[in-house]
Amino acid sequence: MNIKEEIDKLTEDLKIYQDKYYKEGISLISDSEYDRLTDRLIALETEHPEFQHPDSPIKRVGSDLTNDFPEVRHTIPVLSLDKAYSDEAVLSFFSKSIEKKGGALTFAAEEKIDGISMVLYYEKGILQRAVTRGNGEIGNDVTPNIMTMQSVPLSLPEPLDIAVRGEVYLSKADFEHLNAEETDESKKAANPRNLAAGTVRRQKSSEAARVPLTIFCYEGFWGNKAETPPDHIHILAKLKALGFRTNPHFAFFASSKAEAERKLRETGLEGEAYAFDSIDSFIKKKTAERKNLPYEIDGLVFKINELDVREEFGYTEHHPRWAIAYKFEAPQAEARLLDITVQVGRTGRITPVAEITPTKLGGSTIRRATLHNQEYINELELAIGDTVSISKRGDVIPAVESVIDKNSDGNTTYEMPSLCPCCHSEIVQIGGLQYCPDYDCPDQVKGRIAYFASADEMDIESLGPKTVGDLYKAGILRSIEDIYTADYHKAAGLPGFGEKSISMIEKGVKESLSRPFSTVLSALGIAEIGKKSAELLVKNGFDSIDSILKAADENNVTAFSSIPGFGLVTGTRIVEAFRSEHVRKTIEGLRKAGIHLSSSMDEKDDENLEKIFSGQVWCITGSFENFNPRSKALKEIEKRGGRTVSSVTGKTTHLLMGSGGGSKAAEAERLGVKIVNEDEFMSLLGKANEAVSSDDNGQLSLF
Ligand code: IVH
Repeated sequence: MNIKEEIDKLTEDLKIYQDKYYKEGISLISDSEYDRLTDRLIALETEHPEFQHPDSPIKRVGSDLTNDFPEVRHTIPVLSLDKAYSDEAVLSFFSKSIEKKGGALTFAAEEKIDGISMVLYYEKGILQRAVTRGNGEIGNDVTPNIMTMQSVPLSLPEPLDIAVRGEVYLSKADFEHLNAEETDESKKAANPRNLAAGTVRRQKSSEAARVPLTIFCYEGFWGNKAETPPDHIHILAKLKALGFRTNPHFAFFASSKAEAERKLRETGLEGEAYAFDSIDSFIKKKTAERKNLPYEIDGLVFKINELDVREEFGYTEHHPRWAIAYKFEAPQAEARLLDITVQVGRTGRITPVAEITPTKLGGSTIRRATLHNQEYINELELAIGDTVSISKRGDVIPAVESVIDKNSDGNTTYEMPSLCPCCHSEIVQIGGLQYCPDYDCPDQVKGRIAYFASADEMDIESLGPKTVGDLYKAGILRSIEDIYTADYHKAAGLPGFGEKSISMIEKGVKESLSRPFSTVLSALGIAEIGKKSAELLVKNGFDSIDSILKAADENNVTAFSSIPGFGLVTGTRIVEAFRSEHVRKTIEGLRKAGIHLSSSMDEKDDENLEKIFSGQVWCITGSFENFNPRSKALKEIEKRGGRTVSSVTGKTTHLLMGSGGGSKAAEAERLGVKIVNEDEFMSLLGKANEAVSSDDNGQLSLF
């Protein structure tokens, strides 16, 4: 047997084994024998690509070469569907169509799979290209990834020129399973559609091969019109006969059930037959079945069955006039994508932001929504002018969820700029995300200062992002450490910088000097050091900046990685961060300013606090806005000389009452214990702070 013959034989055998295994679950040979034959064929094909079959079973295995996904023009119109949100709207589509035709019609009803729209192009029965929908005219060629799908035939039993539309999807169970395996939280997909979309665009087809994507095919377009079957149900039957996977959950509507049944049986298709007047019960039934299906559907598609009528009715700019999609849920909010702008965050991370038509959602009007990154845009195939659905994820950040309608302006998928929109540095890619590499990029600097000053960090009142931006522009504030040396009076005269607001800034800056060390640590904005990890560092012996700097200088990754919950990645990042010149410069600036760079400074500060609660016995009840957990309030009392107890007794002098406190309040009232609410308590602490820092021994009015 020469090489060509051996390749031919292996190709034929492996195809049979794959088919039997994936279609019928039968193994004709052992796994090891299968692997051996596969390896042999890979080796032969690599050495003699000229003998490789276009439908080689090796394509299923995928490769480690990097895919790019060239844009290609569709040779069929790839339209989306007009939508309906009620049974009446579907019934009206039926009756209007019949009226327009002036005669009998039949309709197919299919599940609307929530997946990725795909067109498979075959020439002479061989799969040539698999192309995403794109903007309906131009899509991305993702053939190597689609070829790994067992349900996509690489060759057909007849040498047909045919384009087949279908929906690529991932079952709910496979989604759950794969997502559970993903350890990186940020890489977990929100739903099966997202994971399928990501897989279709994986750069290595060997990786796509590991995700069990599948397809339901629902439309066929014959190159030779004469070969086209007479109607939709015959097209489906033919697609099935050619080896395409079609959805058995299929229904057929005619003027009577008997008529529908008769036509359907002609094709040999499985499916249910209905009369038009059963539409509402059909929709009800499918709505109920939906949650039990092994895959996600977001609606039902109703299509005119007769192809000549389809041709007669034609298309609008976006939709065929012969089909309609019934959607189970109306989108939360619909908007038009006016533009995409690009934002630079404090870490240099560059985020695309959708600028949308003002849209009401959850009680507010939204004009902007996040698009996460370029990958997300690619997965949505999002182009300016598209109509999109917006939702508030976790009720906070509005996000673009999906494309409802493609633009008709011919715009193709948006591409982020290659330069930072702020400082024009070349954008770099790190793990699918885009970053501006310039630490001095003005947007990054402003972001870092504003983060440091924000309410959750150093809580410098009146130094919000807008003020930081103005001060940066005026050259007054150019780094975190500048906060403590800047001459804010230089801003006098700028809009919004009256004497009063300047002194507010100064007051806020001064107050921030006494924030505890762990707050300073997290306010630095170092990746991996948030509130929790800063506290963990302190608790695990890193109770001064110098101990951290020392370990970093010694490259002692283990000192950090061994802290429970940290690990190697965090340890390495912390070492890197504290070795960086930028961070060192900030720390030295803060040291000069007298900020707390060790826990002992926190304690010393506590000692200096005026003991305004000395001799008092406080009890606490309810929950608080500023003290969460509420043990924080207890600490404040104790730091100022007060004693704390857990129940109200005759010895208790004060009850600090948050919201929801009940029985203790009644007891306090009965015993004549002074009840203090959160606002009053805050002002006590505030006055106490001032008293210490300004030597002002004003009387505390509550006592
Ligand atoms: S028919 C011109 N049938 O829903 C024919 N579409 O907005 C149009 N879809 O882009 C498509 N299941 O990605 C059709 N059984 C089905 C479908 C289906 C899902 C998707 C498809 C299309 C979108 C319609």
